[in-house]
Amino acid sequence: MPENLKHELHEALAQARSFFEDLHDLGVSAVPVAELPAELPPCPPDVCGVDRGGTAVCRAETMEEIQADLGDCQRCPLCRGRKSIVFGVGDPHARLVFVGEAPGREEDEKGEPFVGEAGRLLDRILFAMGLARQDVYLCNVEMCRPPGNRDPRPEEIAACEPFLKRQLAAIEPAMIITLGECASQSLLGDQTAISHLRGKWHQYQGIPLLPTYHPAYLLRNPAAKREVWEDMKQVIKCLREARSG
Ligand code: URA
Repeated sequence: MPENLKHELHEALAQARSFFEDLHDLGVSAVPVAELPAELPPCPPDVCGVDRGGTAVCRAETMEEIQADLGDCQRCPLCRGRKSIVFGVGDPHARLVFVGEAPGREEDEKGEPFVGEAGRLLDRILFAMGLARQDVYLCNVEMCRPPGNRDPRPEEIAACEPFLKRQLAAIEPAMIITLGECASQSLLGDQTAISHLRGKWHQYQGIPLLPTYHPAYLLRNPAAKREVWEDMKQVIKCLREARSG
């Protein structure tokens, strides 16, 4: 051990000894210590986490707890054809959450959302925004791949919905971006076409939500990239304003 460290340690021990000797001389036999807060249980879904006195009675769930509860999900028929349950990924404290539709073939293979061609375009959109995948949270309204990539059915989305809701409640993001019609309509409970929903701010459980086109749609309709970039510029502006205000 270096001499100077040895000296500092010696000093600290001498001070601690003298402190306890003083207490002993004063006749102090016990020292009150601040009570450590007991570990709060995770908030049950849809329950407000404070009591009437404004004291926290529960804490946000962790992604691991939500995933453990999801388990080897058999809540809808999509479980029969899937290879993986594609749970959300990214920062569990992200300010921005992107919600897509459902895993495709590559996502089903790898067990991770947005790792196919649409995902690579989403990565480039994030890059243009000055962000990376690990800065945001990516998830889908449906966690299992529908056969042949058909649209998820309402009952399949409904089976996943409590778990999406719990992920969003645990993250408490500043903003949600819904990618495409399916995610936008599901979260907003509104059947309006994506072309009308997009680019306008809505609310989901008190969180600002902006629908935009799905990157898979952009692969088929590259001209719509400009509209998505207009939407993302709104997001960047709001993020900056929230940070500075
Ligand atoms: N499309 C989606 O909506 N989600 C994915 O994870 C991949 C493609």
